[in-house]
Amino acid sequence: MNLILLGPPGAGKGTQAKILEERYGYRQISTGDLLRKHVREGTPLGQEAKPIMERGELVPDDLIIRMIEPEAEGGGKLIFDGFPRTVAQAQALDEMLRRKHKSSVAILFDVDIDVLTDRLTGRWTHPASGRTYHERYAPPKVAGIDDLTGEALIQRPDDKAETIKKRLDEYVEKTAPLIGYYDDPSDPRLMRVNALAPIGQVTAQLTALIEGDGF
Ligand code: AP5
Ligand code: ZN
Repeated sequence: MNLILLGPPGAGKGTQAKILEERYGYRQISTGDLLRKHVREGTPLGQEAKPIMERGELVPDDLIIRMIEPEAEGGGKLIFDGFPRTVAQAQALDEMLRRKHKSSVAILFDVDIDVLTDRLTGRWTHPASGRTYHERYAPPKVAGIDDLTGEALIQRPDDKAETIKKRLDEYVEKTAPLIGYYDDPSDPRLMRVNALAPIGQVTAQLTALIEGDGF
């Protein structure tokens, strides 16, 4: 079963995706990480996406769907982080998975909006891997340095207060409707975790869902 992690910016999707990848052998597909790689490499997609991401807006659906298609090819269990973000993207993903006789469930990271700014402004990221830390909640062993590679950590340019506000507005307007999409009474496939809990406790809730439901 493929997992879709759904939740606002700073809910902990990337943090948990990396843990589940290691623990259960999922392959994480993060559209945010993929886009940031295009930006770093200066590809045509990266050049188009950069100003949009800096404003905290969503990148157009057609670009995202084209980018994700080759990533979703290949075998193994997938964990989608930051995708889908709109109903059009969710429909495209369902179609992609249907063609391969695969299915998905969504896990909503339930969290209060007021903790998110603190999580995002204190976040430090290792650009090459997308690994994240938090200066108080998940500090690296040495400040500013990635534990595994010894390389420098950075703060994401969109983790500024005014951009965070725009990202939250985009989430409420365009992504939150996906809760109803996946909680469809005729085909319910939405589960929830309390993402206000500390990182280890969120992992424990996810582990219980994955092991309890056998996916
Ligand atoms: P993206 O990279 O997907 O960013 P996002 O959705 O805004 O999510 P974040 O990465 O900010 O949050 P997260 O939930 O992964 O939190 P994390 O685990 O790091 O997208 C960036 C941009 O790319 C978008 O704005 C858009 O422009 C574009 N884009 C991407 N995908 C797109 C798509 N599909 N369609 C259109 N455009 C797209 O945790 C945050 C911090 O909190 C970390 O420091 C972490 O250590 C800490 N933390 C995590 N969990 C906890 C916890 N339980 N308790 C305390 N601290 C915690
Ligand atoms: Zn993330």
